[in-house]
Amino acid sequence: MARPYVCALTLAATLLLGIATVPRSKGLRDAEHRRASRIPSQFSQEESVTMKESLKGAIQIPTVSFNPGEFNTTALAEFGEYMHRVFPTVFRTSFIRHEVVGEYSHLFTVQGSDPSLQPYMLLAHIDVVPAPDQGWEVPPFSGLERDGFIYGRGTLDNKNSVMAILQALELLLIRNYIPRRSFFIALGHDEEVSGAHGAQKISALLQARGVQVAFVVDEGSFIMDGFIPSLKKPFAMVSVSEKGSLDLMMEVNSTPGHSSAPPKETSIGILAAAVSRLEQTPMPNMFGSGLLKITLQQLAKEFSFPVNVIFNNLWLFWPIVSRLMERDNISNALVRTTTAVTMFNAGIKVNVIPPVARATVNFRIHPAQTVQEVIKLAKDIVVDDRVQYHVLEAVEPLPVSPFDDRALGYQLIRQTIESVFPEISIVVPGTCIAQTDSRHYTNLTTGIYRFNPIYLTPQDFSGIHGINERISVQAYEMQNR
Ligand SMILES: *[C@@H]1O[C@H](CO)[C@@H](O)[C@H](O)[C@H]1NC(C)=O
Ligand SMILES: *[C@@H]1O[C@H](CO)[C@@H](O)[C@H](O)[C@H]1NC(C)=O
Ligand SMILES: *[C@@H]1O[C@H](CO)[C@@H](O)[C@H](O)[C@H]1NC(C)=O
Repeated sequence: MARPYVCALTLAATLLLGIATVPRSKGLRDAEHRRASRIPSQFSQEESVTMKESLKGAIQIPTVSFNPGEFNTTALAEFGEYMHRVFPTVFRTSFIRHEVVGEYSHLFTVQGSDPSLQPYMLLAHIDVVPAPDQGWEVPPFSGLERDGFIYGRGTLDNKNSVMAILQALELLLIRNYIPRRSFFIALGHDEEVSGAHGAQKISALLQARGVQVAFVVDEGSFIMDGFIPSLKKPFAMVSVSEKGSLDLMMEVNSTPGHSSAPPKETSIGILAAAVSRLEQTPMPNMFGSGLLKITLQQLAKEFSFPVNVIFNNLWLFWPIVSRLMERDNISNALVRTTTAVTMFNAGIKVNVIPPVARATVNFRIHPAQTVQEVIKLAKDIVVDDRVQYHVLEAVEPLPVSPFDDRALGYQLIRQTIESVFPEISIVVPGTCIAQTDSRHYTNLTTGIYRFNPIYLTPQDFSGIHGINERISVQAYEMQNR
Protein backbone atom coordinates (compact mmCIF):
# COMPACT_ATOMS: atom_id res chain seq x y z
CA MET A 1 0.00 0.00 0.00
CA ALA A 2 1.22 3.44 -0.78
CA ARG A 3 0.46 6.61 1.04
CA PRO A 4 -3.22 7.17 1.18
CA TYR A 5 -3.65 9.89 3.68
CA VAL A 6 -0.97 12.22 2.43
CA CYS A 7 -2.01 11.46 -1.11
CA ALA A 8 -5.59 12.29 -0.28
CA LEU A 9 -4.38 15.57 1.02
CA THR A 10 -2.06 16.26 -1.87
CA LEU A 11 -4.81 15.43 -4.29
CA ALA A 12 -7.20 17.78 -2.56
CA ALA A 13 -4.56 20.51 -2.64
CA THR A 14 -3.63 19.86 -6.26
CA LEU A 15 -7.24 19.80 -7.29
CA LEU A 16 -7.84 23.13 -5.58
CA LEU A 17 -4.76 24.62 -7.22
CA GLY A 18 -5.33 23.05 -10.62
CA ILE A 19 -8.91 24.13 -10.88
CA ALA A 20 -7.99 27.66 -9.97
CA THR A 21 -6.08 28.05 -13.20
CA VAL A 22 -8.29 26.27 -15.71
CA PRO A 23 -9.24 28.81 -18.32
CA ARG A 24 -12.91 29.28 -18.94
CA SER A 25 -14.39 27.69 -22.06
CA LYS A 26 -10.98 26.68 -23.39
CA GLY A 27 -11.12 23.29 -21.78
CA LEU A 28 -7.96 21.91 -20.33
CA ARG A 29 -4.43 22.31 -21.40
CA ASP A 30 -1.92 19.85 -20.02
CA ALA A 31 0.83 22.46 -19.87
CA GLU A 32 -1.27 24.87 -17.90
CA HIS A 33 -2.33 22.17 -15.54
CA ARG A 34 1.24 21.07 -14.99
CA ARG A 35 2.28 24.62 -14.26
CA ALA A 36 -0.43 24.88 -11.65
CA SER A 37 0.41 21.63 -9.96
CA ARG A 38 4.09 22.57 -9.76
CA ILE A 39 3.18 24.84 -6.85
CA PRO A 40 4.32 22.15 -4.45
CA SER A 41 2.39 21.06 -1.44
CA GLN A 42 5.44 20.41 0.70
CA PHE A 43 4.61 19.94 4.32
CA SER A 44 6.86 20.76 7.24
CA GLN A 45 7.52 18.11 9.86
CA GLU A 46 5.24 19.95 12.22
CA GLU A 47 2.46 20.21 9.65
CA SER A 48 2.68 16.49 8.90
CA VAL A 49 2.26 15.61 12.55
CA THR A 50 -0.62 18.05 12.93
CA MET A 51 -2.42 16.54 9.93
CA LYS A 52 -2.12 13.02 11.23
CA GLU A 53 -3.23 13.98 14.71
CA SER A 54 -6.18 15.93 13.30
CA LEU A 55 -7.44 12.84 11.52
CA LYS A 56 -7.08 10.76 14.67
CA GLY A 57 -9.03 13.36 16.63
CA ALA A 58 -11.80 13.26 14.03
CA ILE A 59 -12.03 9.46 14.28
CA GLN A 60 -12.41 9.72 18.07
CA ILE A 61 -15.70 11.62 17.79
CA PRO A 62 -18.36 8.91 17.31
CA THR A 63 -20.55 10.67 14.72
CA VAL A 64 -22.68 7.57 14.22
CA SER A 65 -25.83 7.48 12.13
CA PHE A 66 -28.12 4.76 13.51
CA ASN A 67 -31.27 5.09 11.43
CA PRO A 68 -32.79 7.73 9.16
CA GLY A 69 -33.30 10.75 11.41
CA GLU A 70 -31.47 9.07 14.29
CA PHE A 71 -27.87 10.13 14.85
CA ASN A 72 -25.53 10.91 17.72
CA THR A 73 -26.29 14.62 17.86
CA THR A 74 -23.84 15.19 20.73
CA ALA A 75 -21.02 13.86 18.60
CA LEU A 76 -22.16 15.78 15.50
CA ALA A 77 -22.18 19.05 17.46
CA GLU A 78 -18.78 18.20 18.88
CA PHE A 79 -17.47 17.58 15.38
CA GLY A 80 -18.53 21.08 14.36
CA GLU A 81 -16.57 22.59 17.23
CA TYR A 82 -13.63 20.33 16.42
CA MET A 83 -13.45 21.66 12.84
CA HIS A 84 -13.30 25.22 14.17
CA ARG A 85 -10.46 24.25 16.46
CA VAL A 86 -8.26 22.41 13.94
CA PHE A 87 -8.90 24.62 10.90
CA PRO A 88 -8.88 28.15 12.37
CA THR A 89 -7.70 29.82 9.15
CA VAL A 90 -10.57 28.36 7.12
CA PHE A 91 -13.06 29.87 9.56
CA ARG A 92 -11.55 33.31 9.76
CA THR A 93 -10.82 33.86 6.07
CA SER A 94 -12.92 36.74 4.75
CA PHE A 95 -13.67 35.18 1.35
CA ILE A 96 -14.97 31.94 2.86
CA ARG A 97 -18.55 31.81 4.07
CA HIS A 98 -19.48 29.02 6.47
CA GLU A 99 -23.07 27.95 7.05
CA VAL A 100 -24.53 25.21 9.19
CA VAL A 101 -27.37 23.49 7.32
CA GLY A 102 -29.88 21.04 8.79
CA GLU A 103 -28.34 21.65 12.23
CA TYR A 104 -25.19 19.54 11.74
CA SER A 105 -24.15 19.69 8.08
CA HIS A 106 -21.67 22.27 6.85
CA LEU A 107 -21.51 24.33 3.68
CA PHE A 108 -18.44 26.39 2.83
CA THR A 109 -18.57 28.87 -0.02
CA VAL A 110 -15.10 29.83 -1.13
CA GLN A 111 -15.26 32.98 -3.23
CA GLY A 112 -12.78 32.97 -6.12
CA SER A 113 -11.21 36.07 -7.63
CA ASP A 114 -12.83 35.53 -11.05
CA PRO A 115 -16.63 35.55 -10.72
CA SER A 116 -17.07 34.69 -14.42
CA LEU A 117 -15.88 31.12 -13.80
CA GLN A 118 -18.54 28.59 -12.88
CA PRO A 119 -17.90 27.18 -9.40
CA TYR A 120 -17.38 23.51 -8.64
CA MET A 121 -18.13 21.51 -5.54
CA LEU A 122 -16.39 19.03 -3.23
CA LEU A 123 -18.47 16.62 -1.14
CA ALA A 124 -17.71 14.45 1.86
CA HIS A 125 -19.66 13.23 4.88
CA ILE A 126 -18.96 13.39 8.57
CA ASP A 127 -21.22 10.58 9.77
CA VAL A 128 -20.19 6.93 10.02
CA VAL A 129 -21.97 3.61 10.38
CA PRO A 130 -22.06 2.00 13.85
CA ALA A 131 -19.06 -0.06 14.95
CA PRO A 132 -19.47 -2.51 17.82
CA ASP A 133 -16.05 -3.29 19.39
CA GLN A 134 -16.29 -6.97 18.58
CA GLY A 135 -13.67 -8.21 16.13
CA TRP A 136 -11.64 -5.00 16.02
CA GLU A 137 -7.91 -5.12 16.73
CA VAL A 138 -8.15 -1.69 18.35
CA PRO A 139 -11.33 0.05 19.57
CA PRO A 140 -13.14 1.48 16.51
CA PHE A 141 -13.28 5.03 17.84
CA SER A 142 -9.75 5.15 19.23
CA GLY A 143 -8.03 6.47 16.09
CA LEU A 144 -5.00 4.48 17.23
CA GLU A 145 -1.97 4.16 15.01
CA ARG A 146 -0.49 0.71 14.65
CA ASP A 147 1.99 -0.74 12.15
CA GLY A 148 1.76 2.30 9.93
CA PHE A 149 -2.00 2.48 9.86
CA ILE A 150 -4.53 4.69 11.57
CA TYR A 151 -7.43 2.48 12.64
CA GLY A 152 -11.01 3.44 13.16
CA ARG A 153 -14.50 3.82 11.85
CA GLY A 154 -14.44 6.57 9.26
CA THR A 155 -10.78 6.31 8.25
CA LEU A 156 -11.87 5.33 4.72
CA ASP A 157 -15.56 6.21 4.80
CA ASN A 158 -15.32 9.18 4.87
CA LYS A 159 -13.60 11.36 7.48
CA ASN A 160 -10.43 11.00 5.45
CA SER A 161 -12.06 13.14 2.75
CA VAL A 162 -13.59 15.61 5.21
CA MET A 163 -10.24 16.17 6.89
CA ALA A 164 -8.11 16.11 3.72
CA ILE A 165 -10.24 18.72 1.96
CA LEU A 166 -10.27 21.11 4.90
CA GLN A 167 -6.64 20.42 5.76
CA ALA A 168 -5.53 21.15 2.20
CA LEU A 169 -7.52 24.36 2.22
CA GLU A 170 -6.13 25.37 5.61
CA LEU A 171 -2.53 24.84 4.45
CA LEU A 172 -3.10 26.63 1.16
CA LEU A 173 -4.65 29.60 2.94
CA ILE A 174 -1.64 29.81 5.22
CA ARG A 175 0.42 30.02 2.00
CA ASN A 176 -1.73 32.97 0.91
CA TYR A 177 -3.72 31.06 -1.66
CA ILE A 178 -6.61 32.84 -3.30
CA PRO A 179 -8.54 30.67 -5.77
CA ARG A 180 -9.61 32.06 -9.13
CA ARG A 181 -12.59 29.76 -9.47
CA SER A 182 -15.11 29.72 -6.64
CA PHE A 183 -16.04 26.43 -5.06
CA PHE A 184 -18.27 24.89 -2.44
CA ILE A 185 -17.42 22.30 0.16
CA ALA A 186 -20.49 20.42 1.38
CA LEU A 187 -20.16 18.09 4.35
CA GLY A 188 -23.30 16.08 5.04
CA HIS A 189 -24.09 14.55 8.42
CA ASP A 190 -26.42 11.69 7.49
CA GLU A 191 -25.04 10.19 4.27
CA GLU A 192 -25.13 6.70 5.76
CA VAL A 193 -28.87 6.93 6.35
CA SER A 194 -30.13 8.68 3.17
CA GLY A 195 -28.76 12.23 3.34
CA ALA A 196 -32.28 13.61 3.74
CA HIS A 197 -31.32 15.95 6.58
CA GLY A 198 -27.89 16.96 5.28
CA ALA A 199 -26.99 16.77 1.59
CA GLN A 200 -30.60 17.09 0.46
CA LYS A 201 -31.02 20.31 2.45
CA ILE A 202 -27.74 21.77 1.25
CA SER A 203 -28.74 20.99 -2.32
CA ALA A 204 -32.18 22.55 -1.82
CA LEU A 205 -30.57 25.68 -0.36
CA LEU A 206 -28.23 26.04 -3.34
CA GLN A 207 -31.04 25.35 -5.79
CA ALA A 208 -33.11 28.09 -4.15
CA ARG A 209 -30.16 30.43 -4.69
CA GLY A 210 -30.06 29.50 -8.36
CA VAL A 211 -26.60 27.92 -8.10
CA GLN A 212 -25.29 25.74 -10.92
CA VAL A 213 -21.88 24.11 -10.63
CA ALA A 214 -19.43 22.93 -13.29
CA PHE A 215 -19.03 19.57 -11.57
CA VAL A 216 -19.14 17.75 -8.24
CA VAL A 217 -16.49 15.45 -6.74
CA ASP A 218 -17.62 12.97 -4.09
CA GLU A 219 -16.40 9.73 -2.52
CA GLY A 220 -17.28 6.43 -4.15
CA SER A 221 -14.34 4.98 -6.07
CA PHE A 222 -10.63 4.41 -5.50
CA ILE A 223 -7.29 3.42 -6.89
CA MET A 224 -8.07 -0.24 -7.32
CA ASP A 225 -5.21 -2.45 -6.20
CA GLY A 226 -5.49 -6.20 -6.73
CA PHE A 227 -9.19 -6.33 -7.60
CA ILE A 228 -8.56 -7.99 -10.95
CA PRO A 229 -6.38 -11.05 -10.39
CA SER A 230 -4.54 -10.98 -13.72
CA LEU A 231 -3.90 -7.25 -13.50
CA LYS A 232 -0.87 -6.55 -11.34
CA LYS A 233 -0.81 -2.79 -11.72
CA PRO A 234 -3.23 -0.63 -9.77
CA PHE A 235 -5.52 1.64 -11.76
CA ALA A 236 -7.66 4.61 -10.83
CA MET A 237 -11.38 4.36 -11.32
CA VAL A 238 -13.52 7.48 -11.38
CA SER A 239 -17.19 6.60 -11.03
CA VAL A 240 -19.36 8.46 -13.50
CA SER A 241 -22.60 6.77 -12.49
CA GLU A 242 -24.16 5.17 -9.46
CA LYS A 243 -26.52 2.26 -9.07
CA GLY A 244 -30.07 2.91 -7.93
CA SER A 245 -31.89 1.01 -5.22
CA LEU A 246 -35.26 -0.40 -4.39
CA ASP A 247 -36.55 -1.71 -1.06
CA LEU A 248 -39.46 -3.89 -2.00
CA MET A 249 -41.59 -5.33 0.78
CA MET A 250 -43.44 -8.51 -0.09
CA GLU A 251 -46.41 -9.57 1.96
CA VAL A 252 -48.63 -12.65 2.14
CA ASN A 253 -51.81 -12.68 4.20
CA SER A 254 -53.72 -15.76 5.26
CA THR A 255 -56.56 -16.56 7.59
CA PRO A 256 -55.21 -17.22 11.07
CA GLY A 257 -56.22 -20.47 12.69
CA HIS A 258 -55.08 -23.21 15.00
CA SER A 259 -52.02 -25.19 13.94
CA SER A 260 -53.76 -28.50 14.73
CA ALA A 261 -55.72 -28.35 11.46
CA PRO A 262 -53.38 -26.42 9.16
CA PRO A 263 -53.94 -25.45 5.53
CA LYS A 264 -51.59 -26.98 2.93
CA GLU A 265 -49.57 -23.79 2.74
CA THR A 266 -49.11 -21.05 5.30
CA SER A 267 -48.24 -17.43 4.57
CA ILE A 268 -44.69 -18.28 5.63
CA GLY A 269 -44.41 -21.15 3.15
CA ILE A 270 -45.83 -19.09 0.29
CA LEU A 271 -43.54 -16.15 0.96
CA ALA A 272 -40.49 -18.35 1.51
CA ALA A 273 -41.04 -19.96 -1.90
CA ALA A 274 -41.41 -16.51 -3.47
CA VAL A 275 -38.16 -15.12 -2.05
CA SER A 276 -36.39 -18.34 -2.87
CA ARG A 277 -37.38 -17.93 -6.53
CA LEU A 278 -36.01 -14.39 -6.44
CA GLU A 279 -32.70 -15.62 -5.06
CA GLN A 280 -32.47 -18.48 -7.54
CA THR A 281 -33.25 -16.26 -10.53
CA PRO A 282 -30.78 -13.39 -10.81
CA MET A 283 -31.82 -10.24 -12.64
CA PRO A 284 -30.58 -10.16 -16.27
CA ASN A 285 -26.90 -9.60 -17.00
CA MET A 286 -26.61 -6.07 -18.45
CA PHE A 287 -22.96 -6.25 -19.41
CA GLY A 288 -23.74 -5.43 -23.04
CA SER A 289 -25.42 -2.12 -22.21
CA GLY A 290 -23.26 -0.91 -19.36
CA LEU A 291 -20.18 1.15 -18.67
CA LEU A 292 -18.18 -1.89 -17.67
CA LYS A 293 -17.56 -2.66 -21.33
CA ILE A 294 -15.93 0.76 -21.79
CA THR A 295 -13.95 0.31 -18.58
CA LEU A 296 -12.54 -3.01 -19.81
CA GLN A 297 -11.77 -1.64 -23.28
CA GLN A 298 -9.80 1.20 -21.71
CA LEU A 299 -8.00 -1.25 -19.41
CA ALA A 300 -7.22 -3.66 -22.26
CA LYS A 301 -3.68 -2.48 -22.90
CA GLU A 302 -2.72 -3.12 -19.27
CA PHE A 303 -3.27 -6.84 -19.67
CA SER A 304 -1.04 -9.33 -21.39
CA PHE A 305 -2.07 -11.80 -24.08
CA PRO A 306 -4.74 -13.13 -24.45
CA VAL A 307 -6.77 -10.92 -22.11
CA ASN A 308 -5.78 -7.72 -23.95
CA VAL A 309 -7.05 -9.16 -27.23
CA ILE A 310 -10.28 -10.27 -25.60
CA PHE A 311 -10.95 -6.89 -23.99
CA ASN A 312 -10.08 -5.10 -27.22
CA ASN A 313 -12.60 -7.24 -29.11
CA LEU A 314 -15.57 -7.31 -26.81
CA TRP A 315 -17.91 -7.14 -29.81
CA LEU A 316 -16.86 -10.76 -30.28
CA PHE A 317 -16.02 -11.98 -26.80
CA TRP A 318 -18.59 -10.22 -24.66
CA PRO A 319 -20.74 -13.31 -24.01
CA ILE A 320 -17.78 -15.09 -22.38
CA VAL A 321 -16.60 -12.03 -20.51
CA SER A 322 -20.03 -11.20 -19.21
CA ARG A 323 -20.36 -14.72 -17.81
CA LEU A 324 -16.91 -14.54 -16.19
CA MET A 325 -17.94 -11.30 -14.53
CA GLU A 326 -20.75 -13.09 -12.72
CA ARG A 327 -18.34 -15.31 -10.81
CA ASP A 328 -17.11 -12.67 -8.41
CA ASN A 329 -19.46 -10.86 -6.02
CA ILE A 330 -18.15 -7.41 -6.85
CA SER A 331 -17.95 -7.74 -10.62
CA ASN A 332 -21.33 -9.48 -10.53
CA ALA A 333 -22.74 -6.35 -8.89
CA LEU A 334 -21.36 -4.35 -11.83
CA VAL A 335 -23.13 -6.36 -14.51
CA ARG A 336 -26.62 -6.62 -13.05
CA THR A 337 -29.25 -5.44 -10.64
CA THR A 338 -28.50 -7.41 -7.49
CA THR A 339 -31.13 -9.06 -5.30
CA ALA A 340 -30.61 -9.29 -1.53
CA VAL A 341 -33.33 -10.61 0.76
CA THR A 342 -32.57 -8.65 3.90
CA MET A 343 -35.58 -9.03 6.20
CA PHE A 344 -38.14 -11.74 6.89
CA ASN A 345 -40.78 -11.43 9.59
CA ALA A 346 -43.63 -13.80 10.37
CA GLY A 347 -45.31 -15.76 13.08
CA ILE A 348 -46.70 -14.78 16.47
CA LYS A 349 -47.06 -18.00 18.43
CA VAL A 350 -45.91 -21.62 18.09
CA ASN A 351 -49.44 -22.98 17.62
CA VAL A 352 -51.03 -20.25 15.52
CA ILE A 353 -51.16 -20.21 11.73
CA PRO A 354 -49.42 -16.93 10.93
CA PRO A 355 -51.84 -14.31 9.62
CA VAL A 356 -49.15 -12.42 7.76
CA ALA A 357 -45.59 -12.88 6.53
CA ARG A 358 -43.41 -10.07 5.26
CA ALA A 359 -40.02 -9.98 3.59
CA THR A 360 -38.00 -7.05 2.35
CA VAL A 361 -35.77 -7.35 -0.66
CA ASN A 362 -33.06 -4.79 -1.37
CA PHE A 363 -32.31 -4.45 -5.09
CA ARG A 364 -29.37 -2.38 -6.32
CA ILE A 365 -30.37 -1.25 -9.76
CA HIS A 366 -28.04 -1.35 -12.75
CA PRO A 367 -27.81 2.06 -14.49
CA ALA A 368 -29.35 0.60 -17.65
CA GLN A 369 -32.58 -0.29 -15.80
CA THR A 370 -35.28 1.62 -13.95
CA VAL A 371 -37.17 1.07 -10.70
CA GLN A 372 -40.36 0.17 -12.60
CA GLU A 373 -38.55 -2.38 -14.77
CA VAL A 374 -37.10 -4.08 -11.70
CA ILE A 375 -40.51 -4.28 -9.99
CA LYS A 376 -41.96 -5.85 -13.12
CA LEU A 377 -39.06 -8.33 -13.38
CA ALA A 378 -39.49 -9.31 -9.72
CA LYS A 379 -43.21 -9.95 -10.18
CA ASP A 380 -42.50 -12.00 -13.30
CA ILE A 381 -40.04 -14.14 -11.36
CA VAL A 382 -42.34 -14.70 -8.37
CA VAL A 383 -45.53 -15.31 -10.43
CA ASP A 384 -47.79 -15.76 -7.44
CA ASP A 385 -50.70 -13.39 -7.04
CA ARG A 386 -51.05 -14.16 -3.35
CA VAL A 387 -47.95 -12.03 -2.87
CA GLN A 388 -48.50 -8.28 -2.49
CA TYR A 389 -45.80 -5.72 -3.16
CA HIS A 390 -45.08 -2.44 -1.38
CA VAL A 391 -42.32 -0.08 -2.44
CA LEU A 392 -40.69 1.18 0.77
CA GLU A 393 -38.06 3.28 -0.90
CA ALA A 394 -36.83 3.66 -4.46
CA VAL A 395 -33.97 5.61 -5.99
CA GLU A 396 -33.39 5.56 -9.75
CA PRO A 397 -29.82 4.91 -10.93
CA LEU A 398 -27.95 8.14 -11.64
CA PRO A 399 -27.37 9.29 -15.20
CA VAL A 400 -23.89 8.75 -16.64
CA SER A 401 -21.80 11.93 -16.31
CA PRO A 402 -19.70 12.95 -19.31
CA PHE A 403 -16.14 11.58 -19.45
CA ASP A 404 -15.07 12.53 -22.97
CA ASP A 405 -12.18 14.86 -23.84
CA ARG A 406 -14.30 17.96 -23.27
CA ALA A 407 -15.64 16.93 -19.86
CA LEU A 408 -14.02 19.53 -17.58
CA GLY A 409 -14.53 17.72 -14.28
CA TYR A 410 -13.46 14.29 -15.50
CA GLN A 411 -10.38 15.57 -17.30
CA LEU A 412 -9.30 17.65 -14.31
CA ILE A 413 -9.59 14.70 -11.98
CA ARG A 414 -7.73 12.49 -14.47
CA GLN A 415 -4.86 14.95 -14.84
CA THR A 416 -4.69 15.54 -11.11
CA ILE A 417 -4.44 11.79 -10.46
CA GLU A 418 -1.69 11.50 -13.06
CA SER A 419 0.33 14.30 -11.49
CA VAL A 420 -0.10 13.20 -7.85
CA PHE A 421 0.35 9.48 -8.55
CA PRO A 422 2.91 9.31 -11.39
CA GLU A 423 2.97 5.51 -11.05
CA ILE A 424 -0.69 5.28 -12.05
CA SER A 425 -0.76 5.02 -15.80
CA ILE A 426 -4.43 4.50 -16.28
CA VAL A 427 -7.62 6.25 -15.21
CA VAL A 428 -10.92 4.66 -16.26
CA PRO A 429 -14.59 5.54 -15.83
CA GLY A 430 -16.67 3.22 -13.68
CA THR A 431 -19.93 2.72 -11.83
CA CYS A 432 -20.31 3.14 -8.08
CA ILE A 433 -22.13 0.12 -6.67
CA ALA A 434 -22.97 1.87 -3.41
CA GLN A 435 -24.89 5.11 -2.93
CA THR A 436 -23.39 8.47 -2.13
CA ASP A 437 -24.65 11.91 -1.15
CA SER A 438 -23.91 13.08 -4.70
CA ARG A 439 -27.29 11.79 -5.85
CA HIS A 440 -28.87 14.79 -4.13
CA TYR A 441 -26.98 17.19 -6.40
CA THR A 442 -28.26 16.11 -9.82
CA ASN A 443 -30.15 19.39 -10.30
CA LEU A 444 -26.95 21.41 -9.89
CA THR A 445 -24.82 19.77 -12.57
CA THR A 446 -24.54 16.95 -15.12
CA GLY A 447 -20.96 16.26 -14.05
CA ILE A 448 -20.91 14.11 -10.93
CA TYR A 449 -17.67 12.22 -10.26
CA ARG A 450 -16.86 9.90 -7.42
CA PHE A 451 -13.24 9.32 -6.53
CA ASN A 452 -11.28 8.93 -3.33
CA PRO A 453 -7.50 9.14 -3.89
CA ILE A 454 -6.71 6.02 -1.90
CA TYR A 455 -5.07 2.73 -2.80
CA LEU A 456 -7.74 0.20 -2.00
CA THR A 457 -7.18 -3.56 -1.81
CA PRO A 458 -10.00 -6.10 -1.53
CA GLN A 459 -9.02 -6.47 2.14
CA ASP A 460 -9.35 -2.72 2.74
CA PHE A 461 -12.67 -2.83 0.96
CA SER A 462 -14.02 -5.28 3.52
CA GLY A 463 -13.11 -2.80 6.29
CA ILE A 464 -15.58 -0.26 4.95
CA HIS A 465 -18.71 -0.82 7.06
CA GLY A 466 -16.88 -3.92 8.38
CA ILE A 467 -14.20 -4.44 10.99
CA ASN A 468 -10.69 -2.98 11.22
CA GLU A 469 -11.32 -0.09 8.86
CA ARG A 470 -7.92 1.58 8.53
CA ILE A 471 -5.81 3.91 6.46
CA SER A 472 -2.05 3.76 5.83
CA VAL A 473 0.28 6.50 6.99
CA GLN A 474 3.41 4.89 5.60
CA ALA A 475 4.07 7.56 3.05
CA TYR A 476 3.54 10.06 5.61
CA GLU A 477 6.94 9.31 7.00
CA MET A 478 8.36 8.91 3.49
CA GLN A 479 7.09 12.35 2.69
CA ASN A 480 8.95 13.76 5.70
CA ARG A 481 12.32 12.25 5.06
C1 LIG B 1 -22.42 10.05 21.36
O1 LIG B 1 -21.26 10.82 21.30
C2 LIG B 1 -20.70 11.17 22.57
C3 LIG B 1 -19.46 12.01 22.34
O2 LIG B 1 -19.73 13.10 21.56
C4 LIG B 1 -20.36 9.91 23.34
O3 LIG B 1 -19.88 10.28 24.62
C5 LIG B 1 -21.56 9.03 23.45
O4 LIG B 1 -21.18 7.79 24.05
C6 LIG B 1 -22.15 8.74 22.08
N1 LIG B 1 -23.40 8.00 22.22
C7 LIG B 1 -23.65 6.86 21.57
C8 LIG B 1 -24.98 6.24 21.83
O5 LIG B 1 -22.85 6.35 20.80
C1 LIG C 1 -18.53 -13.83 -2.33
O1 LIG C 1 -18.89 -14.99 -2.98
C2 LIG C 1 -18.30 -16.18 -2.50
C3 LIG C 1 -18.67 -17.32 -3.43
O2 LIG C 1 -19.97 -17.23 -3.89
C4 LIG C 1 -18.71 -16.40 -1.05
O3 LIG C 1 -18.11 -17.56 -0.54
C5 LIG C 1 -18.27 -15.19 -0.26
O4 LIG C 1 -18.67 -15.32 1.08
C6 LIG C 1 -18.82 -13.94 -0.84
N1 LIG C 1 -18.27 -12.79 -0.16
C7 LIG C 1 -19.02 -11.89 0.46
C8 LIG C 1 -18.29 -10.77 1.10
O5 LIG C 1 -20.22 -11.93 0.49
C1 LIG D 1 -34.80 18.65 -8.87
O1 LIG D 1 -35.75 19.63 -9.23
C2 LIG D 1 -37.07 19.12 -9.38
C3 LIG D 1 -37.94 20.26 -9.90
O2 LIG D 1 -37.80 21.41 -9.11
C4 LIG D 1 -37.56 18.58 -8.03
O3 LIG D 1 -38.85 18.06 -8.14
C5 LIG D 1 -36.61 17.48 -7.58
O4 LIG D 1 -36.98 17.02 -6.30
C6 LIG D 1 -35.18 17.98 -7.54
N1 LIG D 1 -34.28 16.85 -7.28
C7 LIG D 1 -33.32 16.88 -6.36
C8 LIG D 1 -32.51 15.64 -6.22
O5 LIG D 1 -33.08 17.85 -5.67
